[in-house]
Amino acid sequence: MLVLDDLCKTYRTRAGDVKALHDVSLRIDEGEFVAVCGPSGSGKTTLLMMIAAMLRPSGGTVQFDGTNLYAMAGPERARFRAKNIGFVFQMFHLVPYLDVLDNVLVAGGAAGKGDSNRARDLLQRLGLQHRMHHRPGALSAGEKQRAAMARALLNQPRVILADEPTGNLDPENAQCVLMHLRDFHRAGGTVIVATHGPAAQELATRTIHLRDGTIECSV
Ligand SMILES: Nc1ncnc2c1ncn2[C@@H]1O[C@H](COP(=O)(O)OP(=O)(O)O)[C@@H](O)[C@H]1O
Ligand SMILES: [Mg+2]
Repeated sequence: MLVLDDLCKTYRTRAGDVKALHDVSLRIDEGEFVAVCGPSGSGKTTLLMMIAAMLRPSGGTVQFDGTNLYAMAGPERARFRAKNIGFVFQMFHLVPYLDVLDNVLVAGGAAGKGDSNRARDLLQRLGLQHRMHHRPGALSAGEKQRAAMARALLNQPRVILADEPTGNLDPENAQCVLMHLRDFHRAGGTVIVATHGPAAQELATRTIHLRDGTIECSV
């Protein structure tokens, strides 16, 4: 489903080039639950963003079912992403001036199937039925991440990418987020999660260890 070939990313900054990822080749099949582990700075976020069609590689290709993500023009790539890929960020990335329901529906825009009934249903399942009309500023970290999880699930994507999704959560909310990733996986979805913690690794069918921008090992 996902084929990464010789993926490289160099960030060009005023202070010089930062080689964040180099020569990463990887194949991820539909239905896998992959944990990406590695110390801070090892390239986890960079890797996830490139798989998510959000960050153009400096070299190499990412193919999703044979489609080369970065050969598409921007708008086409955005539509492809909205339809196929859900993303959960470590810092939530909710739109501050929209309420929770609209934050979830934002995901629907580009895919054209944003369905307010589905959004309400997801928010209910995530225990946020009483928070639908609150803005993110009024929510706890756990509630924000549950809202972000609803947003990621809205378009019934094929894959969910989650970047240290429980890094800022208390154990109860962390467990809630992980259980929704597990359910998505059990229903046939593909999950790729960058993580430090053992809990996500226990759910994973494969763990990839990154170090200094390369795959150290994959088990
Ligand atoms: N926008 C950026 N500009 C410059 N360097 C960056 C940028 N984003 C990440 N990096 C660098 O790239 C490397 C990998 O970062 P990242 O992918 O965020 O790793 P991780 O998620 O594992 O902590 C680090 O050395 C980091 O400092
Ligand atoms: Mg990171």
